[in-house]
Amino acid sequence: MHRPVMVAQVVELLGVKPGGTYVDCTVGEGGHAAAIMDRAGPGGRLLGLDWDGEALAVARERLAPWGSAVRLRQEPFSRLAEILAEEGMGPLDGVLFDLGVSSRHLDDPTRGFSYQHEGPLDMRMDRRQTLTAADLVNGLGEDDLAFIIARYGEERWARRIARSIVERRARSPLRTTTDLVAAIRDAIPAPARRKGGHPARRTFQALRIAVNRELEQLEQALDQAADGCRPGGRVCVISFHSLEDRIVKRRFLVLARAGRGTVLTRRPLVPGPEEVRENPRSRSARLRGFEVGDEGGQPGPGSGATTA
Ligand SMILES: C[S@@+](CC[C@H](N)C(=O)[O-])C[C@H]1O[C@@H](n2cnc3c(N)ncnc32)[C@H](O)[C@@H]1O
Repeated sequence: MHRPVMVAQVVELLGVKPGGTYVDCTVGEGGHAAAIMDRAGPGGRLLGLDWDGEALAVARERLAPWGSAVRLRQEPFSRLAEILAEEGMGPLDGVLFDLGVSSRHLDDPTRGFSYQHEGPLDMRMDRRQTLTAADLVNGLGEDDLAFIIARYGEERWARRIARSIVERRARSPLRTTTDLVAAIRDAIPAPARRKGGHPARRTFQALRIAVNRELEQLEQALDQAADGCRPGGRVCVISFHSLEDRIVKRRFLVLARAGRGTVLTRRPLVPGPEEVRENPRSRSARLRGFEVGDEGGQPGPGSGATTA
């Protein structure tokens, strides 16, 4: 079971209120959604999106007690605006994004996200999509591979890793996560391999982001989320790495400068030491919030509870 992070802080920052209407753009296994519905009470409504059908099946069961007050759809959150129109839903009181891969994915070797288990080079979040990590690894030119690994993995050995992949695949295509890990290991000088965690971590992150177009989707969705909110409605985002956190921070600033509302978190909120001890995955979580203003860009009624 995926363990949701910073649950109390999320409910607080979203300002969940009885009877409110919420969208959980990454409903996953429904942990945050259940906490939101607990607080929103009988009149509350929630739409949960996730592009992963298996996660949604778990959420469906967990959120069953709320009946038709909870709707779930297998969709990428970049379609948020269209989905709201289709559902005739809005304006919203809050939108939540809890980014990243659920631990269930990471632990499932058949999904190909893990550099620690052998599996196919897949990494698709949405298995209806056709492009996989194997297509990128075996199909992209060396320059494009190096660019992706450097940009999305912030990997200093990107150029060498790209070259090693290209050399290896000239002998035979890379099929599994183990093949890719071997190519990465060959590329990184031995002294560097001994520090900074698993040598394949950053390259795997980069490919996952590229396969799923994660950063583009996030930018689009943040704007759509703000557009969907009523004055006083809030958009909250938990991110797990600096690339995403930077996008969230910048997008919220751009919206604030455009007079669309107020950034609620000058600095991101982080989990307390107890949560980090109990759930090490929460260690890198960063939570940011934005409150949509009225048309003049002023914070809406009931705001003022700024955090950080
Ligand atoms: C960290 S988990 C969410 C866990 C959830 N908050 C809970 O309490 O169980 C992130 C989820 O977001 C989904 N996801 C990531 N990017 C997405 C996107 N662009 N569109 C839809 N779902 C996405 C993943 O499939 C995954 O289930």
